[in-house]
Amino acid sequence: MKEPTSFAIPGAVAIAPGNGGLPKVTLTHRAGAGAEVYLHGAHVTSWKSAKGEELLFLSRESHWTADKPIRGGIPVCWPQFGGQGPLPQHGFARTNPWTLARAKKLDNGDVAVALRLNETDATLKLWPHRFAFELCVTLAESSLTLATSVRNAGEQPFDFQIALHTYFAVADIHRAAVCGLRGTAFVDSLRNNAREVEQRSEIRFDQETDRVYINAPDDLSIRDEATGRVFGIRKTGMADAVVWNPWVAKSQRMSDFGDDEYLRMLCVETGNMATHVALAPNQQWQGATVLSVGRA
Ligand code: BG6
Repeated sequence: MKEPTSFAIPGAVAIAPGNGGLPKVTLTHRAGAGAEVYLHGAHVTSWKSAKGEELLFLSRESHWTADKPIRGGIPVCWPQFGGQGPLPQHGFARTNPWTLARAKKLDNGDVAVALRLNETDATLKLWPHRFAFELCVTLAESSLTLATSVRNAGEQPFDFQIALHTYFAVADIHRAAVCGLRGTAFVDSLRNNAREVEQRSEIRFDQETDRVYINAPDDLSIRDEATGRVFGIRKTGMADAVVWNPWVAKSQRMSDFGDDEYLRMLCVETGNMATHVALAPNQQWQGATVLSVGRA
């Protein structure tokens, strides 16, 4: 296996120990944008605009150890969403070390790195399937693309759920709104998984929110009114979206999250949480999400 540092590209891709000594890949765009990805979990922990503003939330209380997920950024939840199965919460992709497979500076200046996860003895004990999971992160001037592919490398079919669990940074949750989900059916985890249809064109927050929107539209957005920032979320090949904010009591219950941090984050997750993806041997699934940032 190649040393991670052999993927460095001067001025564009750097690999160095990050928090807790965990290996971190830093992407730098010539227009000023930046991103950071830990090999632990293939976890994006930072995305900065060309002006240098941080666009993702990362908890000050996060763990930085190999056996625990990072709190904030973009956890990759796979092959299970939440506690909906026998695996650890949100699966094992976020608590395993990934390897760097490629790094590239594209002709248009964009910077891309691909990370890979394959089965290990430990994952086979939890989930008896051989697989090749690749996450490609591409940093452009005002967008960040996460492209995922999963191949069944075994001899039996398997199925999975997936979530790119993005924690967006917002300046004030009371002045933030998620748009684009009106008319979409959702399952409310806080009300015994009751199924309803979203009536609001803008989802606002004044309490804990934890909903899976089924077959959600591919284009969603977040308005952060305190900063005037608008995030675009465009998914392809991914069916569902989750909207989550832990609010007061759950924030207090989470040991790796500050009591007041719910005020400055909002998760809009993309993936297949309501419906499982089924893969026959040798079959491959692909899905992607493009996050973009602009002004209202
Ligand atoms: C969300 C779930 O996706 O993730 C919530 O819908 C959960 O129910 C949240 O609380 C955070 O999960 P975790 O495992 O990172 O604490």
